[in-house]
Amino acid sequence: MKYLQKMFAVSVFLLVAAGMVFSGGQKAQDSGKGLVGVVMPTRSEERWIKDGNAVKEGLEKLGYTVDLQYSDDDIPTQTRQIDDLITKGVKVLVIASIDGSALSNQLANAKAAKIPIISYDRLLMQSPNVDYYVSFDNYKVGVQMGDILVTGLKLDQATAANPVIVELFAGSPDDNNSVGFYNGAMDRLKPYFDKGVLKVPSGQIDRAVIGTLRWDAAEAQKRMENLLSAYYSGNVVLNGILSPYDPISLSTLEACKAVGYGSTPGKPLPVVGGQDCIVASVKSILAGEQYATVLKDTRSLGAATVTLVDTILSGKTPTGLDTTSYNNGAKIVPSLLLDSVIVTKDNVQKDVIDTGYHTRAELGL
Ligand code: BGC
Repeated sequence: MKYLQKMFAVSVFLLVAAGMVFSGGQKAQDSGKGLVGVVMPTRSEERWIKDGNAVKEGLEKLGYTVDLQYSDDDIPTQTRQIDDLITKGVKVLVIASIDGSALSNQLANAKAAKIPIISYDRLLMQSPNVDYYVSFDNYKVGVQMGDILVTGLKLDQATAANPVIVELFAGSPDDNNSVGFYNGAMDRLKPYFDKGVLKVPSGQIDRAVIGTLRWDAAEAQKRMENLLSAYYSGNVVLNGILSPYDPISLSTLEACKAVGYGSTPGKPLPVVGGQDCIVASVKSILAGEQYATVLKDTRSLGAATVTLVDTILSGKTPTGLDTTSYNNGAKIVPSLLLDSVIVTKDNVQKDVIDTGYHTRAELGL
């Protein structure tokens, strides 16, 4: 009996001690203004690392504690991470999804736990439980992708007798941003298609056909190789590529180089735009290969998100939001939409280096 009592006392002591350690741990985690959960799609792309850092550092400066997770572009990993963050009792969830429609259960659970949800950069779809969307104006980004081709290919001077030849690439079909990018670019290019001064020899124009699942640059490169061998074996020369994403710009350029573009008379490298202003693309732009990119300053997106989180958690109502543009299939999500900038070699110094987005050292200068 005595032995049992002793064991009981020891167990209670151990439980209390464990509780103290646990609550101490929790306390440390929740110290300051509370815990914010941030989930980014992947660590393997430069931009999401910058995004994650910008949000984390900004919130920490204001006294919040941040649990930042990267989901390895794997949907089950992302759902598990969100479940865990809900269990940890985060006060707000900031989510950049992989598949915008795959998180409805998690969002419903978060809503049941009264956790506000901010959809970061990519719109969370088909759920009434999304409170805010912070992004760039994705349609305008698409228009800029079109602008790049209009300028780079001098489409205003093109004639139907000697049309400009392009192939088109779109982003991941499960990412709603791809829709805005595609619609913006195609609206900008439509007058040139209509006049017959711009042509796509493969005829592959629909977003469903030209999409690149998970923005996979290797997949795009393979598609470019296939297009080149199927439609460009005679003397048809490819003049331009619509690219929604810098790694796709670089990989499709590689496919072109492999069949003599850039090294054969009469076959200059095609004009290619892009998106994200990654270091490798800025280097390529400075080297005269990729023509341009669209810079979406992740520091501004991070700062806007931090302000939004702080406003919500201070009990205030965010103002100045767009309440018409983004319908996620279940509701119109109030949105904060930032502006993006086209970068060619003419403004790398002013818009990329002087602003500190990339340092001269990062660009190898
Ligand atoms: C983002 C782009 C990014 C792409 C691939 C899109 O949702 O808006 O900036 O290039 O995902 O990560």
